[in-house]
Amino acid sequence: MRVLVTGGAGYIGSVVGAQLVAAGHDVTVLDDLSTGFADAVPPGVTFVKGTLRDCAAEVLADGVEAVLHFAAKSLVGESVADPAKYWSNNLGGTISLLEAMREIQVRTIVFSSTAAVYGEPGRTPILETDPARPTSPYGASKIAVDTTLTEFCRLYGFGAVSLRYFNVAGAFQGADGRWLGERHNPETHLIPNVLAAATEGRPVQIFGDDYPTPDGTCVRDYIHVADLADAHLRALAAARPGQHRIYNLGNGAGFSVREVIEVCREATGVDIGVEVGPRRAGDPAVLVASSAKIQSELGWRASRDLRAMAADAWRFTQARSPR
Ligand code: UFG
Repeated sequence: MRVLVTGGAGYIGSVVGAQLVAAGHDVTVLDDLSTGFADAVPPGVTFVKGTLRDCAAEVLADGVEAVLHFAAKSLVGESVADPAKYWSNNLGGTISLLEAMREIQVRTIVFSSTAAVYGEPGRTPILETDPARPTSPYGASKIAVDTTLTEFCRLYGFGAVSLRYFNVAGAFQGADGRWLGERHNPETHLIPNVLAAATEGRPVQIFGDDYPTPDGTCVRDYIHVADLADAHLRALAAARPGQHRIYNLGNGAGFSVREVIEVCREATGVDIGVEVGPRRAGDPAVLVASSAKIQSELGWRASRDLRAMAADAWRFTQARSPR
């Protein structure tokens, strides 16, 4: 199938792009390189540098049958400091894309949504039917897109699948041997920060150890980026006209910040030190997904554990800056 991957120079988009190519799809990547990297675009795809607003229509007109939509701003803290950037990019950019899809009659879309739509959850594990009460403009912009997709399915016969990721981690080795992994600037995510601390021989900061959790640090549900990519291929095959399906994507198990650091010590062989600092604003104590719905409806299962995520992320880190 001919597919468009928006944001295919980013962390998750590049891994999904590589897996789509491996599965025999004809892939075009559209990315403005505002946060992505040209050298992350997987081999074997057609790459167009540009924004959704300026280029979506032209790219779609080239025989595209379905869209996997990753292009977005994704820093929670930045979204609080500059909400308009998030509404403009994440909602405005998506509406440009959807309008172009409507005109050209491409009606299948898989959307990169997030656990951030749930905000501070009332219970765990979180179900897709639980209330969406985002606590940041980032989460709010993503739930706004989910709402828009529901409308486009109802009004225009789109077939959409939204995947609400929990904490994505790990890296993926493409067919050419290159590792694709996380390279955010600034990096805010835990595992890359722990591995950077290991590389640089300094302690990692723990943002608060006074949460109501077993060891006082926040608990999250980590999912390997390769398992996540597998879910996207299944979602693409499952999209049906007139339906908007929404699935959580996690492992269903929670790990604390201290447990993650311990697994990273084992993966790296480095005795990574810690410094406990204050809580980071807006961090919920526990975020764990129920992924029962995607398991039963699409037959998806997470097959890689936290150890594999840390080991693969470490391989990616070392491939970029050998010690
Ligand atoms: N943490 C540290 N030190 C660090 C980095 C993170 O202690 O250097 C802690 C955080 O406080 C948090 C946990 O590690 O308790 C995980 O933090 P991440 O930044 O890795 O991930 P988040 O859970 O904050 O973010 C994830 C997704 C976001 C999404 C958010 C929803 O990555 O895209 O969940 O809350 F918006």
